Amino acid sequence: MKSIILAGGAGSRLYPLTQVSSKQLQAVFDKPMIYYPLTVLMASGLREFCLISTPIDLPRYKALFSDGSQWGITIEYREQPRPDGIAQAFVIAADFIGKDSVVLMLGDNIFSGGDDFPRAVSSFSQGARIFAYHVKDPERYGVVEFDRNGRAISLEEKPKYPKSSYAVPGVYIYDNDVVEISSSLRPSARGELEITDVNLEYLRRGKLQVKRLSRGFAWLDAGTSGALHEASAYIEAIERRQGIKIGCPEEAALTRGFLDIRQFEALIDAMPACDYSAYLRGVADEWYRLEGPGGER
Ligand code: DAU
Repeated sequence: MKSIILAGGAGSRLYPLTQVSSKQLQAVFDKPMIYYPLTVLMASGLREFCLISTPIDLPRYKALFSDGSQWGITIEYREQPRPDGIAQAFVIAADFIGKDSVVLMLGDNIFSGGDDFPRAVSSFSQGARIFAYHVKDPERYGVVEFDRNGRAISLEEKPKYPKSSYAVPGVYIYDNDVVEISSSLRPSARGELEITDVNLEYLRRGKLQVKRLSRGFAWLDAGTSGALHEASAYIEAIERRQGIKIGCPEEAALTRGFLDIRQFEALIDAMPACDYSAYLRGVADEWYRLEGPGGER
């Protein structure tokens, strides 16, 4: 399964911050925002990435991630000249997707907790699999309505009068039909190729599965400066309390076996002395402790 991270957009709601850097490169507590979605996907075992952004911002992502090999993954890059809609990602990245299935994740969606995503990825075979999350303000999102048996029966993009409190977060898993479906979409009233229209087509074909995310799961949106601040505060609170970092790609690479311990330590050696590298040293120490005598330095 391939992965696409969409990290473009106009960034208008975060102006003037976005004059300095792309929205998905802004800090969420101690890391760039994009580290969070990337880590979720890596922790789900995915290693082949395509990052889509604007022609202006793409060089910044290339400078940050290069080809991904330092983390045992591959990253290709594609430009989206204008923010013509989330579903355009599948048209832009059609050659990258090839004949595979694909996960699309929005670069400004932050998730924490649970194993819903790794499970959803590893058990996926066909159709579309999306998620639903109870929110106070569903009108800001794609909204899914369920029948009494918990089956999805309708989907609407930012409805004025939402039929439920379940928003659709920005992570979507599709079989290869998504390329053909997105290529035949027409722009919506707001001029975008809508991801909700892709999901509606899968619903129409009887191939849409919607998984409700559990209560303990956190989905944070970092789309406005207030939400960005709240997301930072949330990540800081959890990290301080647990002594575990959220959104650390190096750690996910080690845990998933994309890197061996020597490669992981070489990454740390190349980092400056800081909280982040100290944390990763602790991860390496724990790795040696768990691996026992055979795993000693
Ligand atoms: O966050 C989840 C929501 O994302 C879903 O519930 C909605 O169904 C979905 O349409 C989307 O809602 P928004 O309209 O609020 O998304 P927004 O325009 O803010 O774009 C989401 C991210 O994707 C943002 O970081 C910018 C990026 N993006 C967006 C568009 C439209 C692109 O890179 N290119 C684009 O063309």
